[in-house]
Amino acid sequence: MTSLVDIRDDGGIRVMRMNRPDKKNALTAAMYDAMAAALTGTRTDQAIRCVMLAGAPGAFCAGNDLDEFRQAAADGEGLNDSVLRFLHALAYCERPLVAAVDGLAIGVGTTMLLHCDYVVASAAARFTTPFVGLGLVPEAASTLLAPRLMGPRRAFAMLVMGEPLDAAGAQSIGLVNAIADSAEVEGQALAAARKIAALPPEAVLASRRMIRGEPEELAERIDLEADFFRERLQSPEAQAAFAAFFARKK
Ligand code: COA
Repeated sequence: MTSLVDIRDDGGIRVMRMNRPDKKNALTAAMYDAMAAALTGTRTDQAIRCVMLAGAPGAFCAGNDLDEFRQAAADGEGLNDSVLRFLHALAYCERPLVAAVDGLAIGVGTTMLLHCDYVVASAAARFTTPFVGLGLVPEAASTLLAPRLMGPRRAFAMLVMGEPLDAAGAQSIGLVNAIADSAEVEGQALAAARKIAALPPEAVLASRRMIRGEPEELAERIDLEADFFRERLQSPEAQAAFAAFFARKK
């Protein structure tokens, strides 16, 4: 198991921390596997009442590791099984998901938040989904969840035009519940998680299931997006974008 994701259970709360700060928490296959296992494990562990997602100071998550995207493109592949396992685990997770976001939330760093039930962001949080600029398409059922949350035009500006959102912008479209100072963002998220964990668990699960709708719908959209994603990864547009990213410091 990778050390780049730290999983700790504390008082009914599973804290899942992405921990690759030197790469701004860009996610590798091993990290997706660890996070998928942590989420899936909550199905059989009744003691876990709530899951909290956290990152590093200043970097919640910089999205998928672009080197792995570049490699997948070279191998003629799409989103790998690890990514898809994680996205499906998000869709099928029954426990409430709380997130503490400080700093960068890019690509899947933002789209995973669409699956969360309560999000606390620091005033320094920046949400960006640069998929289309990279020659790709949005993933994680964001093409379903984002228009549902914020309406199709704002979803287009975010997912297609790649317009970034600051914490206040994200709060205004309903992506974020509360804004805190960077030093307090995790404390506030943990307080929300504790509040949820203290509620009658079966009533929470039943209510959440009705609010979210059927996970199969999300899973189908994840798979549809993945089909387009595979095609796009092979495209000259995507390959040029990856080459430009890795050439930027040379
Ligand atoms: N994949 C792979 N490596 C990444 C990465 C990613 N998504 N995001 C950051 N990194 C790496 C950088 O290559 C760099 O590695 P190095 O020190 O070995 O050169 C390190 O993380 C720090 O990033 P750097 O670009 O130097 O920091 P910055 O503060 O100037 O910029 C970002 C940070 C996140 C804005 C910038 O790295 C970026 O745009 N990353 C790509 C984000 C992205 O497009 N994600 C995919 C969305 S689908």
